Amino acid sequence: MPDADVRGDNVFADLPASGRVIVIVPTYNERENLPRIMERLLVSVPQVDVLVVDDSSPDGTGAIADDLAADPRVHVLHRAAKNGLGAAYLAGFGWALERGYDAVVEMDADGSHAPEQLPRLLHAMAHADLVIGSRYVPGGSVVNWPASRQVLSRGANLYTRLALGSGVRDMTAGYRAYRADVLRRLHLEDVASQGYCFQVDLAWRTIRAGLRVAEVPITFTERQIGSSKMSGSIMTEAFTSIAVWAVRHRWAQLWGAVGRRR
Ligand code: GDD
Ligand code: MN
Repeated sequence: MPDADVRGDNVFADLPASGRVIVIVPTYNERENLPRIMERLLVSVPQVDVLVVDDSSPDGTGAIADDLAADPRVHVLHRAAKNGLGAAYLAGFGWALERGYDAVVEMDADGSHAPEQLPRLLHAMAHADLVIGSRYVPGGSVVNWPASRQVLSRGANLYTRLALGSGVRDMTAGYRAYRADVLRRLHLEDVASQGYCFQVDLAWRTIRAGLRVAEVPITFTERQIGSSKMSGSIMTEAFTSIAVWAVRHRWAQLWGAVGRRR
């Protein structure tokens, strides 16, 4: 009885009545991965809808997504060019908010985010505004990442935590669930992050808005097919953006403290 996982025990008790969930899957050259992840997702959590956001993948992922959309739960947003993960998600969020979904999930197409663990994220939404599927809380793990990528990810999270003074262990994580109302409050129109720092940007906005962030452990498994779109420019954007947010935050803290003394 798969329903019990998501709705039977009232996971969405404090979400609006129907608790409609959309899973947004951004794709760029994922032709072999997409059908596999979609099948796993729609079998393990059949109640959700899915939006594939494809940036005109040269390998034809967009056409495969259109075929998958024969299932009424599946929708496709085609974008003209590869404009980065941040831009793809912003377009997807806009699409989902216009259609009145109650919760919006982010999931990679390459199998790194196990759809079988999605009920765990949705359950945690009963007491959180943003639920992060975390590799770096007890019970979380990473499978098959080369040492270089592990160092990069751990380093990025340490840097983020120190710079921003946030307690979240996995700020760069890409497997998450937002309450739609939260997305409406984050001023998405001002988000400039194009690459993977989009994830840090939105978590940081959620924290600063005083909303509840929960981390639940996940097993992140490195893709077996295709390649990561991580690049030098994505890393540079993340490093500099986080530095700018940190300076702004510390500056505001300082002025807050000065203001209180006067
Ligand atoms: N539409 C679109 N446009 N999709 C994109 C783009 C883009 O410019 N860049 C990447 N994607 C899609 C990929 O096709 C995949 O489905 C997903 O976004 C994640 O991309 P990967 O390239 O597989 O990311 P990764 O495995 O290196 O990084 C993962 O971990 C990071 C943290 O360590 C992702 O989960 C990141 O979101 C996360 O920040
Ligand atoms: Mn990946």
